Amino acid sequence: MKPVLLWGQSGYGEALLEEIRFRLGDETPAPVPSASGPGWHLLETTAEAGRVFADMAFPHWVLTEIREVTGSGVNQLAAGLLDGFLEAFQEIRVEEPWPLEILCAAEEEGLARRAASVRTELAARLKKRLSRVAKLGRPGPFPPGARPGWVMAFTGFDRVLAASRVISGGQRRMADDAAAPSRSYLKAEEAYHVLGDEPAPGQRVIDLGAAPGGWSYSAAKRGALVSAVDNGPLKGGAAAHPNITHLKADGFSFVPESGRCDWLFCDMVEDPYRVLRLLADWVAERRGARFVVNLKFGRADPVELLREVERFRAREAADWERFYVRHLFHDREEFTLVGSSGVS
Ligand SMILES: C[S@@+](CC[C@H](N)C(=O)[O-])C[C@H]1O[C@@H](n2cnc3c(N)ncnc32)[C@H](O)[C@@H]1O
Repeated sequence: MKPVLLWGQSGYGEALLEEIRFRLGDETPAPVPSASGPGWHLLETTAEAGRVFADMAFPHWVLTEIREVTGSGVNQLAAGLLDGFLEAFQEIRVEEPWPLEILCAAEEEGLARRAASVRTELAARLKKRLSRVAKLGRPGPFPPGARPGWVMAFTGFDRVLAASRVISGGQRRMADDAAAPSRSYLKAEEAYHVLGDEPAPGQRVIDLGAAPGGWSYSAAKRGALVSAVDNGPLKGGAAAHPNITHLKADGFSFVPESGRCDWLFCDMVEDPYRVLRLLADWVAERRGARFVVNLKFGRADPVELLREVERFRAREAADWERFYVRHLFHDREEFTLVGSSGVS
């Protein structure tokens, strides 16, 4: 039995648990969490974490090699975390940047402040003991894949679950831009980070369901040329952007004039199953090289939708370079699919 910590968005703990059951399959008995909080579960499982949990949608972090550190104040916690770190890293040769993160359950009043103070104190102590290693610790972003790290999940004021192995960890809060016309802008920014790629100058982007223009703006500000498809108006930095052409049309029947694009964006508030079928058409016609597609689950069952996404992956995306379905930090009742088909 090995503990695995799965940490997702507050309020989606039950959905995370259902996704775990789905990923483990019917043959494996559903693991019972040994501890849980809003959006996270600690599981004792015989399942091989790297294989089963590495590519899930709901957890923002999948962590293993976990130590519990307790202490009544900042100094005590920092001391315990330093001891844990030194023990965990004694066998690890550190040559590359490694994830150094704090996580904390959003609801707890003041917990984020406590966590930040502990992090500062730990960083100072770590610098004194191992300055070269300390210099390489950072909050990311990191490309997908397992790696050593030190992720400290504050589950209370005096209790931290500290993990020295990151199985996966991609979603995160992104920096806002005053000219962005919507909060949706942050989803596009986060999606690039999950994919490990972003629109480049001169690339062609089709944005279906573009208004008020957050996604279009995020691509246009990188120099890409955007066709923003929506009957609604573009606003803010997207409204008169020279790289954005606004096309009042229906996203389901829109076909790009050139026949293809470098990026297909789709954030239409529509039935997610219908959006997936649309994406399948785009893939079959080889119209797009990369995709950022948001699926709103709203009243639909999110895990049923994940099943359909997995069927899509098997049918349409089996040979893609990259394909991820994630509940982004900036997503609410929705998933974001990001992928790179390898077709250019
Ligand atoms: C969540 S908003 C998109 C936000 C946008 N991504 C941003 O960053 O500002 C959803 C948009 O989808 C559009 N929409 C819904 N159905 C559509 C359709 N069939 N064709 C085109 N646009 C559609 C709506 O008009 C609405 O503007």
